[in-house]
Amino acid sequence: MTSRPRRAVCPGSYDPVTNGHLDVVARAAALHDEVVVTVLHNPAKAGTFSVAERVAFVERGLAAAGVRNARVEAFSGRLLVDVCREVGADVVVKGLRGATDFAYELPMALMNRHLTGVETLFLPGAAEFEHVSSSLVKEVVRYGGDVTGLVPDEVRDALVARLRADG
Ligand code: PNS
Repeated sequence: MTSRPRRAVCPGSYDPVTNGHLDVVARAAALHDEVVVTVLHNPAKAGTFSVAERVAFVERGLAAAGVRNARVEAFSGRLLVDVCREVGADVVVKGLRGATDFAYELPMALMNRHLTGVETLFLPGAAEFEHVSSSLVKEVVRYGGDVTGLVPDEVRDALVARLRADG
């Protein structure tokens, strides 16, 4: 009897991807046969980057990190549990940077399990990226700070071009 592949979903807005995200996806990929990174776009929210740009940044970040068993897909206006069903994943993997993340993530994990039984696994975020989030990185760039090492270099350059008046 052949068992079906263990497939996990790593969901997020990824607007844009950070090195903290890429670390979590790489570690999820080491624990599963396949990871589907799902870029979930809320149509009511204007993002900094288009969905196509976000997907491309994640794809190139994963390629640069040598992660081969992860692919990236975009979804708009969909429940995560429906996305999991569609891609055939029965587990969601998310990184936790601390207690604030846990407070934000726990109700979503419980709601998702309530809806379809999908489980959420939390991986502790790497210490060097504990302070890194897409929103903080954008704010730092907007006001002239350097985010080298916190996001892929091409994301840093795209953020400067998009958010800084002199970019
Ligand atoms: O990058 P983020 O903000 O941590 O991502 C949050 C995201 C996109 C994973 C979450 O908002 C989500 O799952 N959205 C899809 C819609 C949905 O299923 N909402 C109900 C969650 S219980």
